Amino acid sequence: MVWQAAENRYEAMKYNRCGRSGLMLPAISLGLWHNFGGVDVFENGRAMARKAFDLGITHFDVANNYGPPPGSAEENFGRILRLDLGAYRDELVISTKAGFRMWPGPYGEWGSRKNLLASLDRSLRRLGLEYVDIFYHHRPDPNTPIEESMSALDAAVRQGKALYAGISNYSPEGAAEAARILRALGTPCLIHQPSYSMLRRTVEEGLLDTLGREGIGCIAFCPLAKGLLTNRYLNGIPSDSRAGKAGTFLKAQDVTEAILAKTRALDAIARARGQTLAQMALAWVLRDVRVTSALIGASRPAQIEENVAALKNLSFAQEELARIDAALAMP
Ligand SMILES: NC(=O)c1ccc[n+]([C@@H]2O[C@H](COP(=O)([O-])OP(=O)(O)OC[C@H]3O[C@@H](n4cnc5c(N)ncnc54)[C@H](OP(=O)(O)O)[C@@H]3O)[C@@H](O)[C@H]2O)c1
Repeated sequence: MVWQAAENRYEAMKYNRCGRSGLMLPAISLGLWHNFGGVDVFENGRAMARKAFDLGITHFDVANNYGPPPGSAEENFGRILRLDLGAYRDELVISTKAGFRMWPGPYGEWGSRKNLLASLDRSLRRLGLEYVDIFYHHRPDPNTPIEESMSALDAAVRQGKALYAGISNYSPEGAAEAARILRALGTPCLIHQPSYSMLRRTVEEGLLDTLGREGIGCIAFCPLAKGLLTNRYLNGIPSDSRAGKAGTFLKAQDVTEAILAKTRALDAIARARGQTLAQMALAWVLRDVRVTSALIGASRPAQIEENVAALKNLSFAQEELARIDAALAMP
């Protein structure tokens, strides 16, 4: 039986314009960094992708290195496209990235034209796509002229292998420089992908101002602080959680007493709003109009459902924001 997406899939989602571009992105997007790799249960990833699209999540984010093993998240998403979502290709915004290490030797990482364009070709083969919607430079490269990295993004767009260009993990100054170069090349920078959550607020120290000024959208990655800003760890570390598993970027020792004191206080504020902690954390990231989308991860379809329901209450009273700041300022 051919899978059919829910007919009412555009009813619950909110779509925001990405900077000064023509592209709208869902307020919540799904990232495939975890739980879509070759080591994971394929049918669970497939169920999450279907659930996401049924809820109006039109944007799926991967990178060349997502897995493990690296490359397998793209392969699995390619399979999901062939099985289910591919029939809806024109309703999807699919992004991938290059910049982290993918193959041996001097051309397997960073920001040379050689690396970026070869990596994109490999990504397209794994995904089984002719083009991605957004191609990102995944991290700034201190040793390659930024002009070269940006001209590679521009070339990817001109070759029809990507519709838009994006950058990730760039500083405010780097983002402004990238924007200037891309604009001169005729391929405006669509979007920046920085880390942003209640526990990591560096973007508030200049990056959001730069993006607002340059007309670049912002998609906030790890808005739930990899799961810390959810009810996952309030009563210990479950063995099926990210911090409970080996080989992830969230360790059991990251779940500190200091973090728990903050998240318990935040949980109380969320409940008073009629939300879960995860829902409030997402609404909080989206409170700034310069943030186009919150890029979540998930390990099961129910989390996606819960997270999309955050959109039912996106407004904050000043007093709530002050209570959140006070909780975050706890030692
Ligand atoms: N550009 C970059 O350098 C970069 C870096 C990192 C990430 N990213 C992007 O950002 C995406 C998201 O990263 P992330 O997965 O770390 O984001 P996140 O949304 O901060 O954390 C996701 C994790 O939180 C837990 N979770 C989610 N919803 C929950 C809920 N309702 N209740 C309880 N727990 C919940 C799940 O953990 P459990 O597994 O414990 O259930 C889930 O795997 C990635 O997939 C990737 O696309 C980009």
